[in-house]
Amino acid sequence: MRMSPTNLCLFRIHAILLLLLMLFSSFSSNVNVNRNGTDQLALLQFKAKITTDPLGVLNSWNDTINLCQWYGVTCGRRHLRVTKLVLNSSQLSGSISPHIGNLSFLRLLNLNNNSFSDEIPSEIGHLRRLETLYLANNSFSGEIPSEIGHLSRLKNSISGEIPGNISSCTNLAIINIQNNHRVDSLPLI
Ligand SMILES: *[C@@H]1O[C@H](CO)[C@@H](O)[C@H](O)[C@H]1NC(C)=O
Ligand SMILES: *[C@@H]1O[C@H](CO)[C@@H](O)[C@H](O)[C@H]1NC(C)=O
Ligand SMILES: *[C@@H]1O[C@H](CO)[C@@H](O)[C@H](O)[C@H]1NC(C)=O
Ligand SMILES: *[C@@H]1O[C@H](CO)[C@@H](O)[C@H](O)[C@H]1NC(C)=O
Ligand SMILES: *[C@@H]1O[C@H](CO)[C@@H](O)[C@H](O)[C@H]1NC(C)=O
Ligand SMILES: *[C@@H]1O[C@H](CO)[C@@H](O)[C@H](O)[C@H]1NC(C)=O
Ligand SMILES: *[C@@H]1O[C@H](CO)[C@@H](O)[C@H](O)[C@H]1NC(C)=O
Repeated sequence: MRMSPTNLCLFRIHAILLLLLMLFSSFSSNVNVNRNGTDQLALLQFKAKITTDPLGVLNSWNDTINLCQWYGVTCGRRHLRVTKLVLNSSQLSGSISPHIGNLSFLRLLNLNNNSFSDEIPSEIGHLRRLETLYLANNSFSGEIPSEIGHLSRLKNSISGEIPGNISSCTNLAIINIQNNHRVDSLPLI
């Protein structure tokens, strides 16, 4: 079937409009949905450092569903970047990946009451929007990284000694790192 010149022209216009629509939607979803995949990469790297997950809480962390629906993950409604990571009392062990520092929209990190070990990565200090940090009842070794002291949005310190730079925060956060059984010298916050 041959198209008349008018039909051909309409067809081209439609094709161009469709193409523009596709370009626009892919552009806008790239802008809003986690622009360059940084959050997804960071979460998958975080998962990669978990050595045991007996309750399978991270089973949903896979490519078949959007990361905003992964267990424990909350995204901002407009920008769809990860704003909360809540995995308390999940019997997780392993270490915290330094890639956590790439979740640049994170406001709340709750890893209370698991069995995380090794050092708390200083990259947590890159989380400029972090307001609340719960790391109590794990098995961390080493010191609380002084970089955490640079987090100006952290609010409401609990009690006890405040190490190094954290005390210079104007807006101290709920930082709760106490009860890490392997470490005697870790200051309680
Ligand atoms: C991805 O985006 C983040 C900000 O959202 C930026 O810091 C990072 O450099 C970007 N990475 C790449 C590879 O473009
Ligand atoms: C991915 O997560 C979904 C949702 O929890 C689950 O139903 C599915 O089995 C998972 N896929 C794999 C390959 O683990
Ligand atoms: C995690 O902590 C929140 C409060 O911070 C609590 O509501 C929730 O029940 C806790 N989750 C588990 C699995 O204990
Ligand atoms: C801590 O986690 C254990 C399971 O590992 C659970 O039995 C206990 O209730 C949790 N404690 C709090 C305060 O959530
Ligand atoms: C994420 O974090 C790691 C480790 O801190 C770093 O090497 C990497 O360049 C960061 N950026 C991205 C976009 O993954
Ligand atoms: C701390 O974690 C251990 C298991 O690792 C658990 O038995 C204990 O109840 C937890 N304590 C609190 C206060 O949640
Ligand atoms: C606090 O941070 C500054 C630089 O940001 C550094 O020079 C100083 O040694 C830190 N103090 C402590 C106690 O970590």
